[in-house]
Amino acid sequence: MEEKIERFLKEAMFEIDNCKSLKELSDVRIKLLGKQGELTSFLKAMKDVPKENRPKVGQLINNARDVVISKIEELQSSLEETELNEKLKNEKIDITEPSQTVEKGEIHPLYKVFDKLIDCCVEMGFKVLTGPEVEYDYYNFEALNVPKDHPARDMQDTFFINDNILLRSQTSSVQVRAMEKLKPPFKVVSPGRTYRADSDATHSPVFHQFEGLVVDENISLIDLKSMLTKLLSMLFGEGTKIRFRPSYFPFTEPSVEVDATCPSCGGKGCKLCKGTGFMELLGAGMVNPKVLEMSGIDSKKYTGFAFGPGVDRLAMVVNKIPDLRMMFENDMKFLEQLK
Ligand code: PHE
Repeated sequence: MEEKIERFLKEAMFEIDNCKSLKELSDVRIKLLGKQGELTSFLKAMKDVPKENRPKVGQLINNARDVVISKIEELQSSLEETELNEKLKNEKIDITEPSQTVEKGEIHPLYKVFDKLIDCCVEMGFKVLTGPEVEYDYYNFEALNVPKDHPARDMQDTFFINDNILLRSQTSSVQVRAMEKLKPPFKVVSPGRTYRADSDATHSPVFHQFEGLVVDENISLIDLKSMLTKLLSMLFGEGTKIRFRPSYFPFTEPSVEVDATCPSCGGKGCKLCKGTGFMELLGAGMVNPKVLEMSGIDSKKYTGFAFGPGVDRLAMVVNKIPDLRMMFENDMKFLEQLK
């Protein structure tokens, strides 16, 4: 037994000395001192030691345990120190290094125009309402006085999903949804994405519109004109004048095309406005009484106006961009110029 203890002690010292990390040391500690450990097995074997030898052997075991424990503790504190130093070395931060620049995001120029339009209209008391982009034929056409097979459908090259479902070709669909949902008087605007099978420098299959609708008693074209003057002056600057030209939309009567004085030359005539002094900007008009009636609004009592600029077009004019597609190419060099 004495010999065994001595051998254990020698081997234990050797094993402890060989530990390179705290993890290894902890494993060795369990092996030597744990419940299933070698030292415990000596204690268990005490019962077989002759009575007279027990105090001596007991003493030996206790000694061995003390030696092992103090050896382990000694190595543990030195390993802890080395590991801490190593960690500090690895995590050292050089505060003199130049920092990485953080790229700050920006609102897309198109959405900046949207935001301005929305803010201005909300200030005038409009509610913001949105509708689905995948829309029923009913809301996009039929309830806007464009029955199936009506020639006016040719004005908009529509993506049909089936006979009754399409990608909305205009945000005017939300006019109908608003009229069904709200009781007059009301003022709503609806920003959103629209789709047509069109693609060139001034048309994109996905484009954006900003629909406005006001329904109340005694609404007239004058209200439309003053409202649009305010909206477009906010966008292009004080002093912007607008003019109406007769136009046609099945859902408005009368219908108008709205021009504003060219923001580039202030109406004198320049390259941007092709010398006319005016920019053609949007379609608008008085809501056709038939459209009001179809959505359950008494057209004898109420009248309304509606307008629907293409926001891409407005953003092009605001930023003097010649080609609409540039706005969708995600060319950072280009977009950064419009910050
Ligand atoms: N929805 C029409 C278009 O896309 C524009 C418009 C809106 C016209 C509202 C009149 C009233 O061309």
